[in-house]
Amino acid sequence: MFPLTITPYQRRYLQRVRDLIFHNHMVHTHLDWHETDQWLDTQTVPMRLAWYKGRLVGVLGVSAPLNHTCWVRLAVVQDQSDHSRILRALWDELVIELRSLYIEAVALLAMHDWILRYIPMLGFRYIEDIITLERNGAELPPPRPNPMLIRSAEMEDLEAMVRVDNAAFAPPWQLSLDELRQAYRIAASCTVGELDGEMVGYQLTTLYFDGAHLARLAVVPEAQGLGLGGALLGDALQRFMRRSVYTMTLNTQSSNIRSRHLYTRYGFKPNGYDLPYWLVKL
Ligand SMILES: CC(C)(COP(=O)(O)OP(=O)(O)OC[C@H]1O[C@@H](n2cnc3c(N)ncnc32)[C@H](O)[C@@H]1OP(=O)(O)O)[C@@H](O)C(=O)NCCC(=O)NCCS
Repeated sequence: MFPLTITPYQRRYLQRVRDLIFHNHMVHTHLDWHETDQWLDTQTVPMRLAWYKGRLVGVLGVSAPLNHTCWVRLAVVQDQSDHSRILRALWDELVIELRSLYIEAVALLAMHDWILRYIPMLGFRYIEDIITLERNGAELPPPRPNPMLIRSAEMEDLEAMVRVDNAAFAPPWQLSLDELRQAYRIAASCTVGELDGEMVGYQLTTLYFDGAHLARLAVVPEAQGLGLGGALLGDALQRFMRRSVYTMTLNTQSSNIRSRHLYTRYGFKPNGYDLPYWLVKL
């Protein structure tokens, strides 16, 4: 059998990776707020390339490590090739680097069905579905008393927002400052909530051609359950309605009971677009 060669990603291979993505069907990209090109151009993350007789036949890359976890961001295999062998070889090499970076768990959101055939052999286990909820229309639940000041976020707020985010979410769901900065750049609405001058929550929403997407909603644990998440959400919905945007979607873990209570009260319903979330412990 002709040996596969596995090498780290370097920027000079950008065009080869681009071509592999463009010409093949087995492509998994989960780049959140980045375009593929931009991500490849700027990222220095753990990533491996598989070569067969001098041709690029596979790519596997993860996000920058955060609190001992990372996400599979890019996985590509050439259509006419030994997919299992390529993914296994890429994974085995990548894991060596991930262990040296003290990564304890790698997460994957299965955006495309093909990848589900291969990830069990790499040790990934299904955890739960990430569900998409959607609401349409101008109706809002009656407002509740809210002691929080809600204002638009500024660039200078990003560090405090990361602190709120990382306190509210557990790994691997937390955002890094870089990720939040990128999300902020493309957000259509980003607001923070303050109590006595202290930031206690934030929301960040993007705008697509068919509506708004609530990408982040977080309240610090000490202040959860007091109605602040609802106040941030209601305020964001009103801001979009003033711009004649009446549809909003969001994703949440199916097990996230508190957030689901809140979203149900605000009229969000599952739209059937669910994505399986998988995890492997190293
Ligand atoms: C989800 C989150 C933003 C909600 O903010 P919050 O300020 O805690 O929310 P609220 O107090 O406005 O409302 C919480 C709802 O859950 C209910 N709730 C509160 N504690 C609960 C508990 N332990 N179990 C179940 N439901 C609970 C409340 O009754 C309320 O329901 P209602 O709106 O029908 O009255 C916040 O809890 C959070 O940051 N969680 C961690 C990050 C996260 O999961 N973000 C959302 C991911 S999409």
